[in-house]
Parts: sequence; structure tokens; C-alpha cells
Amino acid sequence: MEKAQVFLPLLGLCFIFLISGVSSATFTLVNQCSYTVWPGILSGAGTTQLSPTGFQLNPGQSIPVSVPAGWSGRFWGRTFCSQDSTTGKFTCVTGDCGSGALECTGGAAPPATLAEFTLNGAGGLDFYDVSLVDGYNLPVLVTPQGGTGAGNCTATGCVVDLNGPCPAELKLMSTGTGGGGDECVACKSACEAFGDPKYCCSGAFATPDTCKPSDYSEFFKSSCPRAYSYAYDDGTSTFTCASADYVITFCPAPSTSVKSLGGQYAGGGSNVSSLMSSSGISTSAPLPFLTSLMISIVAVLLQ
Ligand SMILES: *[C@@H]1O[C@H](CO)[C@@H](O)[C@H](O)[C@H]1NC(C)=O
Ligand SMILES: *[C@@H]1O[C@H](CO)[C@@H](O)[C@H](O)[C@H]1NC(C)=O
Repeated sequence: MEKAQVFLPLLGLCFIFLISGVSSATFTLVNQCSYTVWPGILSGAGTTQLSPTGFQLNPGQSIPVSVPAGWSGRFWGRTFCSQDSTTGKFTCVTGDCGSGALECTGGAAPPATLAEFTLNGAGGLDFYDVSLVDGYNLPVLVTPQGGTGAGNCTATGCVVDLNGPCPAELKLMSTGTGGGGDECVACKSACEAFGDPKYCCSGAFATPDTCKPSDYSEFFKSSCPRAYSYAYDDGTSTFTCASADYVITFCPAPSTSVKSLGGQYAGGGSNVSSLMSSSGISTSAPLPFLTSLMISIVAVLLQ
């Protein structure tokens, strides 16, 4: 009798764990760049905060992050980060989050390529996009895994290098990259570079009817047709999935880049996923762990 009193609440607790395990998503961050990337994470207001909010991701490394149901927020990659040897302050040349530390308490300083998510939004769907509205600093690909969705549950991103072809007036140059010379490390949005309301979709231009693509936004759009190039680019830039896990790859493999130039990701997706499995990336949910935990608790109680 006493055993049952302990047993039943515990079973209920395990059941709750199982349910939450099912509905949460696993995001796997993968670095295929030849350089180190320091991902930053910013959770939306009123959503569960993730931990950690920033970490180091070495070339070839992948790190899974468990994301609870209903989460919204953004991921980005910081580049050329270092810690000041005297003050201990941690800063990055691009994507810096201003915390002075490895973990972030705020968003990325532009220019930065952003991967944005709203999980379990309207109609129970996940909404996601890759945005160049705040500029571009490195290639990012978002690949849904195991999701369902009638519409467009497909890979999106900007997988080409835009720092080279970036228009001169948008280039963010830096000497702090260890390369010796002055190097373009990121490509600003026209809004950031000129502060003009017509580029920022602000003031008199704050509606889809008044804010139109510019030559600058067209530069981003022609190179990366699936990414947001300005604020009202929704139709071609927002994707939806149900119950998916997501892989966020920095500098995805060149075979994917070539395909993306024509805006054709459909075949690239399978190539990316075969790439993922061959590099041993686990996209499994926490379910097996919780199941075994539950079985062991039950086993102990039944002794
Ligand atoms: C994806 O589907 C959503 C919902 O139907 C739609 O609003 C969006 O425009 C679609 N995105 C693309 C890139 O086709
Ligand atoms: C994957 O990429 C290789 C080149 O790296 C190409 O030959 C092959 O056709 C691609 N496969 C698919 C399914 O797109």
C-alpha cells in the first residue's frame, strides 16, 4: 500500500517527462566552417529561456540544444571572438551580444545572419526563417528533420559567402581577424549603413505597400533567394513544419552552396542529411533517456 502511494505520483511525474520529451525539439548546431564559431541564442520575451545562451563551436563540432515546446527566439554565429587577457572581457568582431562574456544576455550586434524560430505557433506549426534584414556575417542553413507539414517544411538559409561580393558601401572591414590585413568580415544591411527609412521600412515606409525591395535588398535576395532580404519579404522567406527537429549549420558544404545559387534546396536537403549522418550527428530526442530513467525507477520500486 505504502509503495503504491510513492509509486503512482512518480509514475505521473515520469509521464509528464515523457510528454514534454515528445513535444520539445532538438536543435543541433553544426560548425562546418574552417574557423571557430561562437553561437549566440536569444529567447523571445515571455518564452522559456534556454541555457546556455552562448558557447564555442569548433570546426567540425556539433552540439545539440534541447528547446521546449512553444519556444521562440533566434540563433546566430559570432566570429573572431577573443577574451582580453587583462580585463577578461569576451568580445567578437561580428555578432557580438554585448555581454562581455561567452554567454549572451541580449541579441546580436548587426550585421549578423539570423536563424529565427517560433515553435508551435498558429495552427500548431513551427515558423522559421533565415534573415539578412540585420545584415550577413556567415553562411547559415536551417534543415528541418523528421517534421511533417503540407506546405514548405524544407531547408532554408543563405549558404553562400556574401562578404566577398558585398557592395563596398555595405562592407564591414576589420583588422581584428588575425589575418594581418583589412578584411571584409560582414555585410551590412542598407538600413544599418544609411539609416534611411526607405531601407529600414520605418516612418512613412512602415507598411508592406510603402516599403519595397531596393537594389541593396535585391543583392541579398538574388544570392540567397530563401532568406529575408528586407522586412516585408515574408512570402518567400517564412517556412513551416510540424513536430520537427532542426539542424543549424554554419558554412554548410559547398555542394549545398552550388545548388542554392539556383534557389534549389530540395535535393540539397538530402545531401545535407547524408552529410549529417556521416559525421555522426545525433538528432535523437531525449526520449530514450527518459524512458530508461522511468524503467529504472519502476524497477527499483518493484524490488
Ligand atoms: C510557406 O507556407 C506558409 C504557410 O502556408 C506561407 O505563408 C509561406 O509564404 C510559405 N513560404 C514559402 C517560402 O513558400
Ligand atoms: C549530392 O552531392 C553530390 C556532389 O557532392 C552529387 O553528385 C549528388 O547528386 C547529390 N545528391 C543529391 C541527392 O542531391
